[in-house]
Amino acid sequence: MKTDLNTVDDIRKVIARFYSKVKEDETIGFFFGAMAGDDWHRHEEVMCAFWENVLFHTGSYSGNPLATHRVINQANPVLPAHFSRWLALFNETVDALFSGQNAQKMKDHARGIAGIMQQKM
Ligand code: HEM
Repeated sequence: MKTDLNTVDDIRKVIARFYSKVKEDETIGFFFGAMAGDDWHRHEEVMCAFWENVLFHTGSYSGNPLATHRVINQANPVLPAHFSRWLALFNETVDALFSGQNAQKMKDHARGIAGIMQQKM
C-alpha cells in the first residue's frame, strides 16, 4: 500500500524518478539537453529544496522559478504541449510512488505554477 510523502527522502524519490523520465522524454527532454552530471545534481537539489518548502514550509528555497523559466522560454519557447507533458510525467510519477494529502498538494501546486508560468512568461 502506498503512503503519503512524509520526509525529504520521499521528495528525493519523486524528483529522481521524475527527472530520469524527463531526460529521456521525446517532447521535453531537449530543454534539459545542455545539463551535464554536476548540473543535474545541482538541479535536483534545488528542486528538492523547492518541494520541501512547499510541503513542509522549511524556508529551504528562495529562488524565482518564473525568472528562470523566462530565460528558458527565450531560448526555446515553452508551448502548452510541453507543459502538458511535464505535468503528465510529474503526476504519473507522484501517483506511482505515493498517495495522500501531500501527494495531492504536489500535483495541485505543479499545475498551478504551470498555469501561472504560461500566463506570465
Ligand atoms: C515544460 C515545462 C518546463 C520546462 C521545460 C522546465 C525546465 C526547467 C529547466 C531547464 C530548469 C533548470 C534551469 C537551470 O538550473 O539551468 C528548471 C528549473 C526549475 N523548474 Fe522547471 N520547467 C518546466 C516546468 C516547471 C513547472 C510546471 C514547475 C512547477 C513546479 C517547475 C519548477 C522549477 C523550479 C522550481 C526550478 C528551479 C528554479 C531555480 O533555479 O530556482 N518547472 N525548469
